[in-house]
Amino acid sequence: MSKITIIIGAAVLLAGGYYLGKSGQQPATVIKLDSEPKAAFTSSGAEEVASASASVVRSLVTPSSGELIVVRDGESIQDAVAAASPGAVIKVMPGTYKETVYIDKDNITLSGVIEQGRYPVLEGEGLRNDAVLYSGNGVTVENLYITHYKGNGVMGQAGNNFIIRNNYIVDTGVYGIFPQLGKNGIVSHNIVSGIEDAAIYVGMSDNVDVVFNQVFDSVAGIEIENSRHSLVESNFVYNNTGGILAFITPGLPIKSCGDVLIRNNFVVDNNHENFAIPGSLVSNIPAGTGVLVMACDDVVIEGNIITGNNSVGITFTDFSLAGNAANDPDSEPNPNRPKILNNIMQDNGKDPAPAVRAVLAAMLETTGPDIVDTVGMDDGCILNPERFRTIGLGKYTECEFSTTANVASYTLPEPVPARSMEDVDKGKLAYYGVCAGCHAYSSRMIGPPTQIIQALYMDNPEGIAEYAANPVKKREDYPSMPPQSHLDDETRLAAAKFMLKVTK
Ligand code: HEC
Repeated sequence: MSKITIIIGAAVLLAGGYYLGKSGQQPATVIKLDSEPKAAFTSSGAEEVASASASVVRSLVTPSSGELIVVRDGESIQDAVAAASPGAVIKVMPGTYKETVYIDKDNITLSGVIEQGRYPVLEGEGLRNDAVLYSGNGVTVENLYITHYKGNGVMGQAGNNFIIRNNYIVDTGVYGIFPQLGKNGIVSHNIVSGIEDAAIYVGMSDNVDVVFNQVFDSVAGIEIENSRHSLVESNFVYNNTGGILAFITPGLPIKSCGDVLIRNNFVVDNNHENFAIPGSLVSNIPAGTGVLVMACDDVVIEGNIITGNNSVGITFTDFSLAGNAANDPDSEPNPNRPKILNNIMQDNGKDPAPAVRAVLAAMLETTGPDIVDTVGMDDGCILNPERFRTIGLGKYTECEFSTTANVASYTLPEPVPARSMEDVDKGKLAYYGVCAGCHAYSSRMIGPPTQIIQALYMDNPEGIAEYAANPVKKREDYPSMPPQSHLDDETRLAAAKFMLKVTK
């Protein structure tokens, strides 16, 4: 165990001030290290005016114990987490940290200290799977530079009331920032690039704001998947294969997607070649996709600047795009009640991807539209349709409202309780929160469909648990599965049993 500095109580205020002062620049966040709850946004106030009329302050307040732990270059962040009690703030000084950090305690703030632009770097060396995994509630992860991991930059596994902000995530595997099965969270001011699947992936979650992020050079920029009540606002999303996506992946345990507000984003030149893992859902996204809404309901698109996306500016569609992902009898495939308010759309559709070109050719078109609805929904609305080149919007009416300015945030004012282990079967929680990040029931995600695993393992949950702890490479056309050794034996076995039981 390396040396760790633990400072408790009154000294904390001083120490905090010292580091803040020494950094030479005002860090983005000032955390009050007294016994008061920490305020999520106390510094610039930028988040408080996310929407022109925002009168509601977006903040999450989680309890802080007043304990401060400082990790220096050469020490281990995981050791600090192990030594921390719930509510601690762990400050990580600039340096290089070659490790995976698991946070299973509540109200931990993992906060990088940036000095003259020098970040604490979590370096995966192309060997490690994940940089930060948290399952605690009230976890904050901020000010880290994360690079060269194979799996996730920051992944939440059923943690609620989370804040992930001000991180740099570069060339880091499959998912950059991936809160899975979380409720009430903020993902803001992150810079994420070079991700094989989704740079920011809100999966099976509720009440999450994704705001002020810069996301580029990835397959999917921002993905809101099987989630409800999400605000995607003021992000700069460029040079991905697809910019902003709201959709249902068929075969995940949570079946619905809806109430997603995509507002005031720049969605520009998302024409990157698709470099997703072949066969994965996102490998079907045509290059040149600005905004894509697949099967997700009540999506409102307002105030965005959507330009230079070579296939289509905005697409509303059902599962037809999901290709081999087929279907889920429990997920309704239509993108119900789409609403398109005022957006600027320019120069989209100039050079459609082959799949889109083929569809257009059948309609004697060569350029992609600003907006397409491939289903032809009859419950949608659009403002000023004459300004845009559209296909399939014949049944849309004029919207009855022209602004969503009354909505400032989808986060909830009070922290929500943790998902209680007593209420939820441990195996179900682990399967939903961890395995379902890569395994859907009937469709291929990162890993093979659960159905196939069930056929292979029948009544051998021990075999699954054993494989999950020490996976070996089996399939040529899939990546390797990362070991799930961060779960204890009992949880792994419970997840395995649940995996054999699920039926959809
Ligand atoms: C980060 C993605 C990811 C996560 C998370 C994940 N898996 Fe996998 N899993 C894979 C991939 C990829 C494969 C295919 C590996 C191969 O064929 O070499 C796989 C394959 C498997 C297999 C098939 C083994 C065989 O004999 O063919 C089992 C069983 C399995 N996973 C169980 C689990 C369980 C249980 C969990 C949760 C505790 C889990 N996985 C979490 C990606 C993942």
